[in-house]
Amino acid sequence: MRKFYLMLTICMLAAPAHATTPIPDADSPQAKVYAEKCSICHVLPHPKRLSFNGWKHMLTLMDQRIQERGLSPLEPEERKAIAAYLERHAR
Ligand code: HEC
Repeated sequence: MRKFYLMLTICMLAAPAHATTPIPDADSPQAKVYAEKCSICHVLPHPKRLSFNGWKHMLTLMDQRIQERGLSPLEPEERKAIAAYLERHAR
């Protein structure tokens, strides 16, 4: 149990640094759609995390997660903006 609390403390200490990692080109309209739609359920992932191919796969998966939670699905324009942003900044 002590180990569990130790881990929890470490995670909480580590979290803020992770959450504030700035994303590239954060003021662009596309980045804003990305930041708004992709930080509802978890910390906004950095675009360098995946290749663009990886992101295409991930967007499909996240569409499913959004539907499972009964949230409003990504509009086609939102999906396009997010994909364009990720294509520009993927690794
Ligand atoms: C409805 C909630 C929800 C929304 C909104 C959401 N995600 Fe997720 N995301 C999840 C869940 C749950 C997981 C955990 C893995 C799984 O169950 O598929 C996850 C995992 C991820 C991961 C993997 C994290 C890792 O540790 O490697 C990435 C990357 C990701 N999401 C990107 C996105 C992007 C990009 C968007 C915006 C289009 C988005 N998510 C929006 C629920 C969501």
